[in-house]
Amino acid sequence: MKDILDVRELTKTYTLGKVAVTALGGVSFRAKAGEFLAIAGPSGSGKTTLLNLIGGLDVPSSGEIEIDGERLDRLAEARRADLRARKIGFVFQTFNLIPVLTAYENVEYPLLLGKVPKGERRSRVEAALAQVGIADRSRHRPAELSGGQQQRVAIARALVSGPALVLADEPTANLDSRTALEVIDLMRRLNSERGVTFVFSTHDARIMNVAGRVLRMEDGRVQNVLGANA
Ligand SMILES: Nc1ncnc2c1ncn2[C@@H]1O[C@H](COP(=O)(O)OP(=O)(O)OP(=O)(O)O)[C@@H](O)[C@H]1O
Ligand SMILES: [Mg+2]
Repeated sequence: MKDILDVRELTKTYTLGKVAVTALGGVSFRAKAGEFLAIAGPSGSGKTTLLNLIGGLDVPSSGEIEIDGERLDRLAEARRADLRARKIGFVFQTFNLIPVLTAYENVEYPLLLGKVPKGERRSRVEAALAQVGIADRSRHRPAELSGGQQQRVAIARALVSGPALVLADEPTANLDSRTALEVIDLMRRLNSERGVTFVFSTHDARIMNVAGRVLRMEDGRVQNVLGANA
């Protein structure tokens, strides 16, 4: 399978006043199409920083990021946003749905931004909501949904544009244990049945157990990689 993601010697240093904090100290790895790759590591080890850089939400201090053959780190803001919209879905720990929009409208939103025609929008939104098992809640607003249902809607929103890669930063951290397991099962099913490539951070040992590979971070570096063809 081809590489969907190639990260080379990525660094990120934040400057707070006169103090420089090195969040990433040179991270390199690749992910192949169809992978289910977990990023683990203690609090402060750089997981969120790494996912935000890969997702184009923040810019690296140095290093290279290639997504599906395109160099993300070289792009100016507007082109980076465009690449992000075409190739990446992002799932957040806190769901980050738009509160005034219904589940349907939240999932439709990226397609509106992408100027997808109305008829096609409808069929794609309905298909995405059905894939995550939440079609019967499409008219509910986020406040009228449980945490697990909100995260399902967020996953549908991440999938609806047909991205090459879905990034998820601790997607189950704000869910109770049983609901977290359901969301893990859903991600795993989307991966194995539909070939969705996931790169996600987690503290949850149950996700790590179903991951194809686990990248373990410490102090802004990859300490080791466990799993198939690591
Ligand atoms: N915007 C920022 N400004 C300054 N320092 C930051 C910023 N974001 C992160 N850091 C620092 O970078 C390091 C890595 O943080 P990061 O949030 O990536 O860790 P994490 O592995 O996601 O932790 P957690 O498991 O708690 O979510 C930490 O030392 C953190 O304090
Ligand atoms: Mg984090």
